[in-house]
Amino acid sequence: MNNKFYITTPIYYPSGRFHIGTAYTTVLADSMKRYHQLKGEESYLLTGTDEHGQKIEKKAEEVGKTPKEYVDEMAKMAKELWSKMEIEYDDYIQTTEERHEKTVQKIFDKFMEQGDIYKGEYEGWYCIPCETFFTQTQLNDGKCPDCGRKVDLMKEEAYFFNMKKYAEHLLKYYEENPDFIKPEYRKNEMINNFIKPGLEDLCVSRTSFDWGIKVLKDPKHVVYVWLDALTNYITALGYLSEDDTKFKKYWPADLQIVGKDIARFHLIYWPIFLMALDLPLPKTILVHNWIMMKDGKMSKSKGNVIYPETLMERYGLDSVRYFLLREMPVSQDGIFSPEAFVERYNFDLCNDLSNLLNRTVSMINKYFEGNVPAYQGTPNEVDQELEEYALSQIEKFEQKWNDYEIANSIQEIWNLVARTNKYIDETMPWALAKEEETLKLESCMYHLVENLRKIAILIKPFMKDTADNIFRQLGIEEIEQKNWKNLKVYDTIAHSKVIEKGEPIFMRLNAEEEIAFLKDMMKA
Ligand code: MSP
Repeated sequence: MNNKFYITTPIYYPSGRFHIGTAYTTVLADSMKRYHQLKGEESYLLTGTDEHGQKIEKKAEEVGKTPKEYVDEMAKMAKELWSKMEIEYDDYIQTTEERHEKTVQKIFDKFMEQGDIYKGEYEGWYCIPCETFFTQTQLNDGKCPDCGRKVDLMKEEAYFFNMKKYAEHLLKYYEENPDFIKPEYRKNEMINNFIKPGLEDLCVSRTSFDWGIKVLKDPKHVVYVWLDALTNYITALGYLSEDDTKFKKYWPADLQIVGKDIARFHLIYWPIFLMALDLPLPKTILVHNWIMMKDGKMSKSKGNVIYPETLMERYGLDSVRYFLLREMPVSQDGIFSPEAFVERYNFDLCNDLSNLLNRTVSMINKYFEGNVPAYQGTPNEVDQELEEYALSQIEKFEQKWNDYEIANSIQEIWNLVARTNKYIDETMPWALAKEEETLKLESCMYHLVENLRKIAILIKPFMKDTADNIFRQLGIEEIEQKNWKNLKVYDTIAHSKVIEKGEPIFMRLNAEEEIAFLKDMMKA
């Protein structure tokens, strides 16, 4: 089936409140889902929480709850946040649900039976916050190479997954499937840093704590959180369960989005588990970089954390979704700063987009009593140029978006916004009105509405409310006119009437005040 698009986010650790970094991955995934849906594909988005492991067990203890009580509460909070951010997920998996646990046990069993998993003894340096074992040489100054915190020496009986057996096969897969890893440089990192130096077998069970899925045939062991967590992408679809309709329909995933810190797990272990299960691999795994602050990583102790609710409550959801996608180049780290947020808000959203809509609505009211003139081709040379420009921007947008250059693709939309604003200055509708050049004036008004219609369709995957607001103010009501299929078409607007008085979609912020406000919020 070609007409489906299955997309996943990582499942988040419910160990604290989600900041804008976590929100970024989810907004990106949701926007991708909406984009494919608008293009007529049957899209399916999975998200959830990763609820086992020592870290969660400790966290629950700290707040005086049982682990299950704690994770259920956190999952509820996560769902509330996603609902505020209008994340249209189709399923939310908690790894403590029975549907997941049972399948993980079956998968573990299957690996044991096949001889992919064997019993041994593990000795290594364990980082609890990262839930990861490291060898001596992997440590950085004796500390965790990922988070820089202290590690503990641990020794225990454990099961291992024979990764070495699949290493060659994985390399071959990388080579034959150029779209498997995006951006491409991540593939080379995996090959050079982990596979070429010799892939180590992965320890996949623990006896030192309890909060996990028990190995059926050896219940003093619990399944290592990463084996447990990674399989969520198929257990949620009903793999190996009585009803596997969704699994048959949606697997393999079309796009799995992960942050750079968990690239290794998704680009090496996950495909190997799938190979061992004899399942097809996801079509693309997209690795994105991080949102940083000017002084490095976001952290409570540094007092530089920003939460999505803070921004949304004050500036509205769409400006946050816009900022996250526009400011974060997927393949490099992006920086959040109050200055950048306020600047994007005031320039891109207010000056450029909101004003374009406002000027258009007010001129159509002034010159044509609110009636959008019909399309009559391009009586002006500048109209012709504008049409060509709009079509080329749409193509550039699609090409970059499909290549996951999200920030750049959005820039292409804003180039069209800027070009349309410039078009008003070039055509000088006020002069056309004075000179009674009616045909040209009609064409000018039509083209303004047409470009705004195109812009609204383009932003809809990530700014749905704003897109709907633009359609409403322009009097564009018919589904066909808002449809992605008709994005490139001219002459779809007939008998539209703009609203009597334009409503600004974004109001200019007082930069100084808002920057001060955001700085305070970051310290709170
Ligand atoms: N539970 C694991 C994932 C298991 S997936 C089978 C996990 N959870 S996490 O909550 O720590 O991180 C979830 C995602 O959030 C990761 O993709 C991570 O990269 C992302 N981010 C965390 N901080 C981030 C930023 N500051 N910026 C962008 N993304 C960030 O890892």
